[in-house]
Amino acid sequence: MIEIKHVTKTFGGTKKAVDDLSLTINDGEIIGFIGPNGAGKTTTIKMITGILNPDEGEILINHIPITKEPLKAKQEIGFVPDQADIFLRLKGIEYLNFMADMYEVKQSLRPQRIKELAELFSMENALNDKILSYSHGMRQKIVIMGVLICDPKVWILDEPLTGLDPQSAFCLKERMREHANRGNCVFFSTHVLEVAEKLCDKVAIINNGNILFFGTLKDLMDQHPHCESLETLFLEVIQYA
Ligand SMILES: Nc1ncnc2c1ncn2[C@@H]1O[C@H](COP(=O)(O)OP(=O)(O)O)[C@@H](O)[C@H]1O
Ligand SMILES: [Mg+2]
Repeated sequence: MIEIKHVTKTFGGTKKAVDDLSLTINDGEIIGFIGPNGAGKTTTIKMITGILNPDEGEILINHIPITKEPLKAKQEIGFVPDQADIFLRLKGIEYLNFMADMYEVKQSLRPQRIKELAELFSMENALNDKILSYSHGMRQKIVIMGVLICDPKVWILDEPLTGLDPQSAFCLKERMREHANRGNCVFFSTHVLEVAEKLCDKVAIINNGNILFFGTLKDLMDQHPHCESLETLFLEVIQYA
């Protein structure tokens, strides 16, 4: 469960990147975080994951305040950032074991999980190469595998499907659904509306740091009955905020 309570963030100047934002994401739910470029998605996600501290407000991960007990809260979180250029000097297999060490995954569980994930994401032949040699999509896949091998309760993914091949995107979406069905929560940003439509239990639409809508897509469509497509609906919500 993620509780975001009246969170605000300003990067110098007066414009608030995130403005008094509140959201509660319950266990068992996949929430899509949708908004145009610069809306405040990544800033919100960085605050949820403890990378940035909010100027005001607080965020609880499974009831643990991320700013006051960051290590304890982070143990609950699996995070896929929007840019995956990390730990480039490690080999893929070293990175996966490093993540498993951080999250205290038992040694006995690792070989099976690594084998399964490598097959799922077609990475069997790449694990002994340095991440530096990976393509953009492969770097993204190894970061995703690093989360899946540890399997923390709360998944937070910033544009996880951008740059993935269709097969890998399909596998990730399936894993997200399974994870939520097992009573965990998944919060991910996207600008691909069709993904949100198919995958999410609810969507949170953000623009200029404000939540404009939070609920099911059905509720959203009921509120705007004249809109013919999700695209026109989305543009209307963003425009007339
Ligand atoms: N480190 C930073 N320094 C200054 N401004 C920033 C920084 N990060 C984000 N911003 C600004 O905050 C706003 C929200 O950005 P961001 O959260 O990255 O949006 P999104 O992920 O929705 O595209 C934008 O106006 C962006 O320019
Ligand atoms: Mg972003």
